[in-house]
Amino acid sequence: MRTLTPLASNLVDFDLRQMDSNLPRNDGNESSSPTASSSEGSDVFILDPSELFRPEHKAPEKYRIYTTNQDDYIQKRVFDTYKAMHTNQTMNFALDRLKAWTRFDKAEMGIMEALEKLNSLVDESDPDVDLPNIVHAFQTAERIRRSHPKLDWFHLTGLIHDLGKLMAMYGEPQWAVVGDTFPLGCAFAPSIVYREETFSDNPDLKDQRYNTNYGIYEPNCGLKKVVMSWGHDEYMYQVLINHPKMSLPQQALYIIRFHSFYPWHTGGDYFHLCSAQDLDMLPWIREFNRFDLYSKSPDVPDVDELIPYYQKLVDKYLPGPVKCPIAMIHQSAIVNEIFKVQDESDFKQKVLNNPNLVILDFYATWCGPCKIMTPRLESMVGSKSTPNAKIDLAKVDVDELDTVAGEYEVSSIPSIFAIRNGKIVDQFVGMRDDDQLDSFIEKALATK
Ligand SMILES: [Fe+2]
Ligand SMILES: [Fe+2]
Repeated sequence: MRTLTPLASNLVDFDLRQMDSNLPRNDGNESSSPTASSSEGSDVFILDPSELFRPEHKAPEKYRIYTTNQDDYIQKRVFDTYKAMHTNQTMNFALDRLKAWTRFDKAEMGIMEALEKLNSLVDESDPDVDLPNIVHAFQTAERIRRSHPKLDWFHLTGLIHDLGKLMAMYGEPQWAVVGDTFPLGCAFAPSIVYREETFSDNPDLKDQRYNTNYGIYEPNCGLKKVVMSWGHDEYMYQVLINHPKMSLPQQALYIIRFHSFYPWHTGGDYFHLCSAQDLDMLPWIREFNRFDLYSKSPDVPDVDELIPYYQKLVDKYLPGPVKCPIAMIHQSAIVNEIFKVQDESDFKQKVLNNPNLVILDFYATWCGPCKIMTPRLESMVGSKSTPNAKIDLAKVDVDELDTVAGEYEVSSIPSIFAIRNGKIVDQFVGMRDDDQLDSFIEKALATK
């Protein structure tokens, strides 16, 4: 793995983390959630297929050709990321993440601070291709500035367009951070990458409402009404529109929100959902994509020298006292745990002797409803846990720990228990929707 380019120390008063090659990788496995696997204080290895397959790396006829070649490490990572994404990105998931990530009640961060932090995301791709994220940000911005010197909002857009990737540092799995995005709530279009190979396990495929061309949407309703798969585009868009003094123009918001929406801006699908405004904005997104390149190039920008110019733009379009209120869920403020119970002594230690409220999830790998309930529980626990009322989620595979399952008289799964001080305070069997889970946890939290 390559090392990071050191940052200018005078960016902001920010304590840069030390590199540590022994840190856990965030591979987008199913146990990841915004609060499950903290990466705060460590590097996160990330691979953004949308960036990796930019046209600068391919001859035109090979541009964005994805293969299922399992021998090629990068191609395998790309395929696995999309497989996880296309299995788990559902309407419920995206709405849930939107709710969880836009509470904006955990921390504040300035733009420059966020840019520095972004450098702890280490691009895990072809070493001939990758760049430190801050270099990519400034390089994109400077390319735009050269071609559009008067459009200062466009320069700032280039600088901040990938800031939403910071979600990966707070435990969000990579399939919910990077890669191409696509609409939910209607049929998945043919131009989505790996459309044929990766969607078969997506629960939305079985929902009649979501499987026509229009799905739940009206013709030409406008992309603003469309729920997109959750990723860094949508998150950064939400951060911006929730900023009380943000004054970036529509073009900037479209670029931020849809630059990874390749099935639309490059694939030519989903035009039946577009409003006139979407079509007006499309050329801006395509113009932006000309500069959002991701190749090593000799013109590495001098970040130190550029800071004052871009800080002025931040002050102009995203003003705020000292730190702009870019709010993010702050891992250290929550500190809850989501874990799989390994054995009986693990159960005793982490469940029965746990001072926090523990939600106990009995599941099996072959159980379809469990595959829906477990991510739902992870999200709910993540979003409801606070420093004063911490909640942990303990997952028990009934096939591996049948003694524990027997003690709790589990005869059907999923079986969910709320445990406080080693004692059962509530329980249910089977599926529950988000509202029901919410009240289940609220009720359990009220117990002492
Ligand atoms: Fe991006
Ligand atoms: Fe980018």
